[in-house]
Amino acid sequence: MIVNSQSATSPQVIDCGAVDHTGPVSWSATARQEVETIIARYPDRRSATLPVLWLAVREFGWISHQVELITAEVLMRPLDEIHEVVTFYTMFPRRPLGRHQIEICRNISCWLAGAVNLRDYLKQRLGIGPGETTADGKFTLSEVECLAYCECAPALRFDDRYVGNLTRESIDRLLAEAE
Ligand code: FES
Repeated sequence: MIVNSQSATSPQVIDCGAVDHTGPVSWSATARQEVETIIARYPDRRSATLPVLWLAVREFGWISHQVELITAEVLMRPLDEIHEVVTFYTMFPRRPLGRHQIEICRNISCWLAGAVNLRDYLKQRLGIGPGETTADGKFTLSEVECLAYCECAPALRFDDRYVGNLTRESIDRLLAEAE
């Protein structure tokens, strides 16, 4: 649900941080096969940690405690070690995300070019703050460090697309075009 500026007084927000997979999870037969293919590429199972976690994100959508457990099991590594990797890298989501990821840059070039105002506009349009997902599961908003697109500041990443010279109008267009 996109909340427009007139109706943004009490937006519904999913606090995804508290959600977990409720029971044990398991790899699909296809994913399990793929795990073995990945592991076979490396001299030891530990070296396959990142690609297997990438596969886990594709398979399960995010890395819950349950997913860490089965990843540790398949890699024959301690659970703590898998948890350390998952929590070190920001690309491994630890909560369910919306269908579209919007990451607005808050680093210096974007900040000087007005990213804070645009972030606030996005918050108003979506009715959520950074780290939250809209109630319909459509958008997740995040603030991130430099997207390496400083020459076109202010910038954001919308799924796999980088958008620079951001304006309120371009934000409106992105939201309107999103399925
Ligand atoms: S500071 Fe925003 S892209 Fe680099």
